[in-house]
Order: sequence, then C-alpha cells, then structure tokens
Amino acid sequence: MASSEQPRIQWLGRWGFMLAATGSAVGLGNIWKFPYITGEFGGGAFVLVYLACILAVGVPVMMTEIAFGRRGLGSPVDAIRRVVRESGRSSAWSLIGWMAMLCGFMILSFYVVVAGWSFAYLWKMLSGGLAGSSVGDMAAVFEANNANPWNLGFWSTLVTLLTMLIVGKGVQEGIEKSVSWMMPGLVLMLALLIAFGVFSGGFAQAFRFLFSFDAGSLSSEGMLAALGHAFFTLSLASGAILTYGSYLPKGTSIARTTLSVAIADTVVALMAGLAIFPVIFANGMDPAEGPGLIFMSLPLAFQAMPFGTLFGTLFFLMLSMAALTSAISMVEATVSWLCDNHGMSRKAAAWGTGIVLWLISTLAMLSFNLGAEWTLADKNVFGWLDYLTSRLMMPLGGLGMVVLAGFVLNSHTFRDELGLSPLPYALWLTMVRYVSPLGILVIFVDALGLYRV
Ligand code: PFF
Ligand code: NA
Repeated sequence: MASSEQPRIQWLGRWGFMLAATGSAVGLGNIWKFPYITGEFGGGAFVLVYLACILAVGVPVMMTEIAFGRRGLGSPVDAIRRVVRESGRSSAWSLIGWMAMLCGFMILSFYVVVAGWSFAYLWKMLSGGLAGSSVGDMAAVFEANNANPWNLGFWSTLVTLLTMLIVGKGVQEGIEKSVSWMMPGLVLMLALLIAFGVFSGGFAQAFRFLFSFDAGSLSSEGMLAALGHAFFTLSLASGAILTYGSYLPKGTSIARTTLSVAIADTVVALMAGLAIFPVIFANGMDPAEGPGLIFMSLPLAFQAMPFGTLFGTLFFLMLSMAALTSAISMVEATVSWLCDNHGMSRKAAAWGTGIVLWLISTLAMLSFNLGAEWTLADKNVFGWLDYLTSRLMMPLGGLGMVVLAGFVLNSHTFRDELGLSPLPYALWLTMVRYVSPLGILVIFVDALGLYRV
C-alpha cells in the first residue's frame, strides 16, 4: 500500500479542517432540506427533536468519526479496519466503513439534482427570468424547470462536473480554498432575508411555527426524520467527516472543532428557517409544500425588496457554493479509497467516480419528469435515495460507530486520540455508550412499523 510509506497529506492552514468540515456540513441540508421537512412535519416539535438529536447523537458521533479518521489515516474502510485491528478485533467491522462510503455516494446522486436547482435559479435571477412573477407563477416556474429532462439534466451534469473538477484538484488546493469566503457571505445574505422577514408581516407566525414546542405531537415518522436529518446536516456516517479527519494534524482539539462545526451548522439552519417561513406565511403559501419550498418562496421575497435582483443573485450564488463545498466532501471517501488501494491518481479516481455518479444521478434527475412514475411503494428513485440514506444507513452507521468506540475497542484508543481531560472524556464515553445508542434505538423501534413496505 503506497500510502503507508509516505505520511498522509494534511490540511494546510490551522483552520483548514474547520473550514472544510464546516463547508461540508453547511449546505442544502440547512437551507433547502431543513425548512421543507420542518414544514412537512409541522414545526416546533420536529425542531425540538432535531436539536436534541444534534446534541445527544450528532456531536458524539462527529467526535468519534474524526477520531477514527485521524487514528486510522485513511478512507472509512481502511481507517476503521486499521483501528479495529489495533485492538485485535475482526476486520468485519469495516463493513461500517463500506456502508458509509456507499452512503456518501448515494447522497451525492440526488444532491446534485437539488444543487442543479440552485444553479438554475441563479441563472434565472441573473437573466431576469423571475421578475414580476406572482405566488402562483412561482410553482409553475419550479415545475417548468423540472419538466424538461434536458434542462434539468444540464444543471445536474454541470454540478457533477464542477464537483469532480474540485475534488480532482486535491485536498489543499481544491477543497480548502473555496470555503473561506463563502460561509460569511451566506450568513450575511440570510441575515438580510431575516431582516426583510421582520417587516413582511409573517415573522411572528414563523417564529411561533419554529419554536413553539408544544405545537402538537410528533409522529414516529417525524422523529425518525429528525434523527436522520441530524446525521445528514452534520455530514455524518457518510464518510465525509471521517475522511476529512484523516487529514487532521495530531495537535488539533477534536472536541472543540466538533462543537464549532455543530454550532455553525445549527445557526445556519435556524437562520434559514427564520428567513423562509415569514415569506411563506405572508404570502399564504403552504409550509408543507415539499422540496420546492425555498425555490417557490424566496424569489418572492427578493422581488419585493429593494435591489432584489442583486441580492437574489448573490443568495443563489452563495447557495450554489455551499452545495458544492458539501458535494465534494461526499466523494472524498471514495476517491481517497481508490487512490490508497488501487494506486489511482487523484484525477483518475475523481473522474471515474464522476462517471458512475452521473449515471445514478441521471436516474434521480428523471424522477422529476420522465421517471416520475418509476416508483416502488410510492417512492421514485430520488425519494428512495433520500429515504434509504437518511432514515436507514446513516442512523445505522452512526450506531455501529458509537458501539465500536464505546464497547468494542481498547479503551485507551479513543482516550489517546481525543486527548480530553478526565471529565469531558467521561462525558463523551457516557454519550457513546448509552445516550447516543439508546437514542437511535428508541427512535428506530418506535418507527418499526414504517419499514413494512
Ligand atoms: N451536510 C450537508 C448538508 O447539510 O447539506 C449534506 C451532506 C454532506 C451529507 C456530506 C453527507 C455528507 F457526507
Ligand atoms: Na448541514
């Protein structure tokens, strides 16, 4: 294995990992998915369970994943295999790594379609294609953009190409640089939208919708969706964070970095909710509209504000960038695995992965037009890719990792790697041994009825 002879490449700057991990975490999950599933599952109670899952499951799992990566110095498959061998355990545990790698790949297959929407809307904003549209027009615009497979395929293909171009350039040049200016820009744009929402008349209702926790009971499906989204939004159990962790210098504090990433991600999601729901309520739109929610609502806000075209263009530019910095992290595991085990160059690995990805993402793209009827149990390809990853593979992968870290491996492995003082270490251990696994299991058992297809 070539990689074991030379030291593994590391992030360039002190902030390299922070930037890349935040770039991976903050993306369409925060701005597109969080608002629309919150709308679907009825608001406050969903948000509360989601926040609890971030704290009780997301943070401990993220620390564990980064530690696995830095200890095992490789893709999820290689890193987990090395770490379990170090404790004399069966390499069958590396199946968790295989599942994570596959999961990142499956997510990217539908993620490029949604990122394609963002690019298409960026173009619409630039070219003035949204000017003067009414509430009703917005739904028609969204549908028209989906209806033509050539149009939709053009945008998702563009996203695939851009992703592979950046990944092919490498960890330091490609990934690290793009994140540092995009994040602050995105937060500024969201702040502007919230300020606008405060005056739009829908703000109080939006606030109540998101934060009145007694807003009604939550279904088992909603709980599972909240758990799955905690994984999705923090890029967990998909190989991304683990592989990024394998480039992390030994001296960096895993706990501190994890907390910063989780806080940044949560703040952006809540800001997105506070930006979008005022527009929904002020215009009498349906919060449970589904995946088109932000694309139908935000252009209305931009239309009504001064310099709206400029701000709208900037917003979709930032959103597209945020999507790209997440997209690249989803294939990093596969690319790193191909390079380390099959002696491929980074470029060859990136483009090879890109071709397979393009084929699957084309099926996901067709779910919005030609393939809308290709369904199984009421879900099309896009729906299945989303469902299998968030509701099944990520929670299971996370469960596997905390069980490994908490019960299976020699206890000094993670104590050394995390480098925590006794009290925080005891807290982490309690979380990975009891709180996170029980949390995942309780939600799974509660949702058991949902798996009968
Ligand atoms: N965390 C990303 C988002 O919220 O948009 C999505 C994501 C990135 C999921 C990377 C999984 C992953 F490996
Ligand atoms: Na996120």
